[in-house]
Amino acid sequence: MEVVILPTAIDVGELAADVVVRHLQSSARPVVGLATGSTPLPLYRELLSRSTNGLPVDAATLFLLDEYVGLPADHPSSYRRFIGEQLTDGLGVAPRSLHGPDGCAPDLPAEAARYEAAIAAAGGIDVQILGLGSDGHIGFNEPGSSLASRTRIKTLTEQTRRDNARFFADGEVPLHVITQGIGTILDARHLLLLVTGAHKAGAAARALEEPVTTMVPGSAVQLHPHVTVLMDEPAATQLTLADYHRATWSAKPPWQRL
Ligand code: GLP
Repeated sequence: MEVVILPTAIDVGELAADVVVRHLQSSARPVVGLATGSTPLPLYRELLSRSTNGLPVDAATLFLLDEYVGLPADHPSSYRRFIGEQLTDGLGVAPRSLHGPDGCAPDLPAEAARYEAAIAAAGGIDVQILGLGSDGHIGFNEPGSSLASRTRIKTLTEQTRRDNARFFADGEVPLHVITQGIGTILDARHLLLLVTGAHKAGAAARALEEPVTTMVPGSAVQLHPHVTVLMDEPAATQLTLADYHRATWSAKPPWQRL
């Protein structure tokens, strides 16, 4: 696991864009896992600004991490619509290349299995972008989620519903979601975890520096052989190893890429 601490969230977005663009360029059929929430927005803005010079997205397949149960794709707060507005519409991604779990499917367990099969049929995910919930969740895998879990229905904690109320006009966040499992996420070949803001400092320290536990689902990234964590300084304030990470990054030979 490589941890890079950068001055600001904008810097995190720019370096994350370098990583994503490298994946887009290094495969004939790249598969990218997208996260929603506020954290990846500087990355998505950066990708949109670079797309004016041409980003190789035509051959890419994109998979969302999760979706709210009961929200149709065109609902203003659905993740499908969010990612369209924040990234994929602007990049010119064809709708058939963007996949997300259908939170309105009549048979949600069957939909979860279909989603797993779709990821596998695409050849698996090359790079999975992740944010970190303030309760330590990744995707919508709340504390207590099995580290072996696959795509399934989950119930949101009260804290996550409060955190996400800002994305809903009436503040009413659905209780249920369909999310890639922790096992699904760990199958991606490269994990790109973005953590920004002082309000994430506690969750970041628990996820990166304490023992792996289902109570902090983000700690599961410690089990993965290729993880890049990009953080801003406010999110790194509770890391015991912050100075070590800064020194490692500043001494990094230019031929060693993330
Ligand atoms: C949401 C999403 C996650 C996201 C996390 C953090 O609930 N399901 O994919 O990473 O919470 O959100 P934010 O980046 O807005 O803090």
